[in-house]
Amino acid sequence: MKKITHFLSLILMLMILSACASKTSTATPLTNTPEPTLTHTPEPVAPTPEPTLETHPIYLDPEAPVEARVEDLLARMTLEEKLGQMTLIEKNSVQPKGVTEYFLGGILSGGGGSPESNNVSHWVEMVNSFQQAALETRLKIPIIYGVDAVHGHGNLKGATIFPHNVGLGATHDADLLTRIGQATAEEMAATGIWWNYAPVLAVVQDIRWGRTYEAYSENTEVVTTLGTAYLQGLQGTSLAEPFTVLATPKHFIGDGGTTWGTSTTNNYQIDQGDMQVDETTLRTLFLPPYQAAVDAGAMSLMASYSSWNGTKMHAQGPLLTDLFKGELGFQGFVVSDWAGIDQIDADFYTSVVISINAGVDMNMVPYDHVMFINALTKAVEQGDISLARIDDAVRRILRTKFMLGLFERPFPDPAWESLVGSADHRVLGQEAVRKSLVLLQNENAALPIAKDTPLIFIAGEYADNIGAQCGGWTIEWQGVAANITPGTTILEAFEATVSAGTTVQYNRFGRFENVLDENNQPAIAEVGIVVVGEAPYAEGQGDRADLALSEKDIALITQVRPQVNKLVVILLSGRPLIITEQLPLADAWVAAWLPGTEGQGIADVLFGDYPFTGKLAFSWPRSMEQVPLSALQASAEGALFPFGFGLEE
Ligand code: GLC
Repeated sequence: MKKITHFLSLILMLMILSACASKTSTATPLTNTPEPTLTHTPEPVAPTPEPTLETHPIYLDPEAPVEARVEDLLARMTLEEKLGQMTLIEKNSVQPKGVTEYFLGGILSGGGGSPESNNVSHWVEMVNSFQQAALETRLKIPIIYGVDAVHGHGNLKGATIFPHNVGLGATHDADLLTRIGQATAEEMAATGIWWNYAPVLAVVQDIRWGRTYEAYSENTEVVTTLGTAYLQGLQGTSLAEPFTVLATPKHFIGDGGTTWGTSTTNNYQIDQGDMQVDETTLRTLFLPPYQAAVDAGAMSLMASYSSWNGTKMHAQGPLLTDLFKGELGFQGFVVSDWAGIDQIDADFYTSVVISINAGVDMNMVPYDHVMFINALTKAVEQGDISLARIDDAVRRILRTKFMLGLFERPFPDPAWESLVGSADHRVLGQEAVRKSLVLLQNENAALPIAKDTPLIFIAGEYADNIGAQCGGWTIEWQGVAANITPGTTILEAFEATVSAGTTVQYNRFGRFENVLDENNQPAIAEVGIVVVGEAPYAEGQGDRADLALSEKDIALITQVRPQVNKLVVILLSGRPLIITEQLPLADAWVAAWLPGTEGQGIADVLFGDYPFTGKLAFSWPRSMEQVPLSALQASAEGALFPFGFGLEE
C-alpha cells in the first residue's frame, strides 16, 4: 500500500508541477511584452485526488483505534521527531519556535510558572503559543502541557484553591475528592492544560517531611481510596472529554518512606532521601495506591527523587519497568521529576542512558532541551539505548496523547474561562474546608460560638492571610504568606457570619487593651480566636527536625488568654504539630490544616451551621520522641490524638 501511495503522490506532484510550469510560462515578463493569446485548449483541471494515506493518514483519523494511530504515526517519525517527544521543557527555557524546531513533546509550568500577567487569558495565550508551534511541525503532533494543580490550579491567580491533601485526608470522603478532581480539571482545561502532576500517593511515615501536606495520610488504605477517587475525578470516564485531564500519580515509589538524615539534596534532611525497607514492606505499605491508580486508568506516572536502599528511583529498572510496567501492566508513560535524571550520576550522558533504560519515557529536563536531545541521539547512535526502547517510550507518549484527544482538541474554548474560580467551585471548596476540620479539644462549651456573641477578639497574622491559608504550591512554588489570590480569610468569614449586633475586634498581635467596656475598663470578650501555625513552604524546604509550636505562637495564645472568657485556637499547618503542653492554654483547639481560599468553611463549622466531621488521617504525636510513626507505634503511652480521632462537638 505504502509503495502505491508514493507512486500516486509522485503523479500528483508531476501534475501539479506541470500546471505550475504552464502558469509560470504565461506569467507577464518583467519587460512588459504584450500577453500572448492562448493558442491551445487549457489542460483539463486535475480531478480532486481521492483521500489517500498521504492526505488522510490513519493517525489523524479520530475514528481509528488508538493503537492503529500510534503505529501509523510512529512509522512516519524520524529519530529526531521521536526524541523530541521524550523531551519536557519548562516554559521559561524555550521559545515557541524551539518547540517546532526540536519537535518537543511537552512543556510545563513549574511551581510559580505563570505568565507575566497572572490571569486566565494570559495563561491561555501562553499555552496556546506553544501548542500552535507544535502544530507547525511536519507531523503536527500536539504538545502536552503540564502543571502541579495539586490543590486546584494553584499557579493561577483567581483559581479555586482547595484544602491541601493533608486536610482532605481528614474528610475520608472519596466522593468529595472525585468532585474536587472534576472541578480542578475544569479550571485547568479552561487554560488549555490537560496534564496534572497529581495526586501525590505518598504514605507518609515521618511528618518531619516537608511534603507531608501533599499527602492524604500515613495509612495505605486512606491514600489508596482518596488518591483513586481524585484521579477518577480528574480523568472522568474518558480522557478524551474536554473537561478531563491526565493524572500523574507520584512520586513512584516510597517518597514518604525515606529515613531522616539520608537526603543528599541541598540542605534537605528527609525529602528525596533513601527509603530503607525490604520488598515486602514496599509492596504492602507503598504499592497499593499505585496498583489502584493503574486499575483506575492512570496513563502517566512520575518517578520519585528518592531512593530505595541506595539506588535512585530514576535508575530503578526493576521497579519502573519490571514492577510498574510489567507486573502492574501500566500502559502509559513515566515522566521524570524536575531534573530528576541529573541526580543519578555526575556525568549527564550516563544519567540519561541509565534512566531511559530503567524506564523513564519522558524527561522533565527541564532547562536545556538541546543538551538532552544530543545526549539521547548519541546514546541511540552508540547503541547505549536501543531504538526499541525509544519506540516503546514514544508509543506510550503518543498513546496517551491520542487518548487525551489532543490531536482533535489542542486548544481550549475561550468560553471556558469563566470556570476558573467559579461560584460552584468555591462552594465545593467551602464544603471541603468544613469536612477537613478536626476538633481536637472543646472544653467550657467554647464551640460552637453563638452568632450573636456581643464581642469577639480575633488575633494572629494568619487570621487575615490567604497565603497562609493556602500554603505551598500556590501562586509561587513555596507559597507566600500574603494576600496573593482572591479568597475569604478567616477574619472575613467571621465578620460575614456574626450577627449585626456583634463586634469583631481584630489585632494580629493579640493586644485588645484599648477595647473598653461600659466601665471604661479593658473589655473581656466572651470569645477569643487565635490563629497560629506554619508559614508556607514546599518540598525539602519544609523538612523540620522540631515540630513544636513556635515561641511566637505560644506567646500570642498566652497574650490573648486573660482577655477572653473562652479561647479557641485554630491551627494552620501542613502536619500535626507538638502542642501537648499548650493544650491547657485554650478551651478549644481546631486543626484546620491548609484550607485554601474558602475560609468561610471554617466559620460555617465554628458557628455551628455544620458539625465537625473530620477525623485524623495522621496520628498526632505527644512529642518529637514519637516521630517518626514507627517510634509512636512503639511508644507505651500512644499518640496525643490517635489516627481516626476527631470530636464532633
Ligand atoms: C517538583 C516536584 C514534583 C513536581 C515537579 C514539577 O520538583 O518534585 O512534585 O511535579 O517538580 O513542578
